[in-house]
Amino acid sequence: MSPAAAHAHAPAAPLSAHKSGPLTGRLRPPGDKSVSHRALIFGLLAVGETKIEGLLEGEDVLRTAQACRQLGARVVRHSPGNWSVWGAGLGSLLQPVETLDFGNAGTGSRLMMGVVAGHPIVARFDGDASLRKRPMKRILDPLALQGAQVLEEAEGGRLPLVLQGSSEPLPVEYKTPVASAQIKSAVLLCGLNSPGRTIVIEAEASRDHTEKMLAHFGATVASEPYGAHGRKIALEGRPELIARAVRVPADPSSAAFPLVAALIVEGSDIVIEGVMTNPLRSGLLTTLQEMGADIALENRREEGGEEVADMRARFSRLSGVDVPAERAPSMIDEYPILAVAAAFAKGETRMRGLSELRVKESDRLEAIAAGLRVNGVDCEIIGDDLIVRGGSAKGGGFVETHLDHRIAMSFLVLGLASENKVVVDDETMIATSFPSFRALMERLGARFS
Ligand code: S3P
Repeated sequence: MSPAAAHAHAPAAPLSAHKSGPLTGRLRPPGDKSVSHRALIFGLLAVGETKIEGLLEGEDVLRTAQACRQLGARVVRHSPGNWSVWGAGLGSLLQPVETLDFGNAGTGSRLMMGVVAGHPIVARFDGDASLRKRPMKRILDPLALQGAQVLEEAEGGRLPLVLQGSSEPLPVEYKTPVASAQIKSAVLLCGLNSPGRTIVIEAEASRDHTEKMLAHFGATVASEPYGAHGRKIALEGRPELIARAVRVPADPSSAAFPLVAALIVEGSDIVIEGVMTNPLRSGLLTTLQEMGADIALENRREEGGEEVADMRARFSRLSGVDVPAERAPSMIDEYPILAVAAAFAKGETRMRGLSELRVKESDRLEAIAAGLRVNGVDCEIIGDDLIVRGGSAKGGGFVETHLDHRIAMSFLVLGLASENKVVVDDETMIATSFPSFRALMERLGARFS
């Protein structure tokens, strides 16, 4: 893709959600976004053929696939979800000729900065208007300690930027300033090509897909508890990464939308199949169960090294709860949809410690509060906490999504259960993570126009 197309994005397409009858039936959400990005990236770094089954074919992941090609991998789509990557191999990446354009994808861009930082190449990174606003210094700071250099950047360490990697990244011990799997993963991916040991310490454990995939592809990586809620991860550099098959489980962050929809639309009873139940991604499930949600995990099993289950969710009378700040890393992408559940719960829900929501695809804290207010829901931001006083949402609002897929899907779900229709200003970004959202929801009985 040419640099000129870097921030192009399809024209906005508004979508309305209408009060719907009971949602019923079964669905399988698309593959997990975090695992999909990593499967492609590890395919790039391994020698041989990495076969991927169940890859999320959302725009974010397709950008990562394209970047892998630009860095020297052969990436082939055989059929929906079935892909192969023939890697360039760790230490053997090609110098990309054109800009690596990540569109809306924070994860793809940040993880790939780690990869580039560990190789003697120069790459230009860019993205859409949303990605250009997001902070990259949190990634570039540790990568500089490892030996990478930022040659150009937009104000405040933002995209577009040019990164020069190092032929011999230094082994570092790095404590992440915020709980972020993206920071942790960038440091580890850079450390892969270091001759020594790279250590990452996090005070609050974040999702561990990178560590799991490192081990799966043959690296030596150890993870141990650190403090009350943290982890210390040690990676031995310069492993021989061996191409492996990856089976991508269904994305719990996408499953969250039909899940909450079933809980708030009267009479609903649905089954969501094959959802990853990794404990570091399960904060929403815990919270909804505390709120009184009727969710049963059936057919628990392991798929592709992750725990999965079929989730049966039925309409429930929810009650407000207090969500502790320590739970945030395990449900960081689920606060928009939790806030919607809270809007239909009896009493007050307080979600604590949400500062990281301000630097997602949009300022999600403000976007959630604004979306709730225009739909007649009483809410308040106090410091980094969001308080929602629930009951029922009137709806009738026009929601600004700020190029944020999860804001769009959350408020469409709200519209399925509220008296008046809810309109979101733009549904196009939904394709970044859940291209089949509308079709799958309609099959359950959801009404959109
Ligand atoms: C992700 C980590 C999270 C999450 C993002 C995916 C990942 O971001 O919000 O959608 O795959 O590593 P942070 O690590 O910045 O919290």
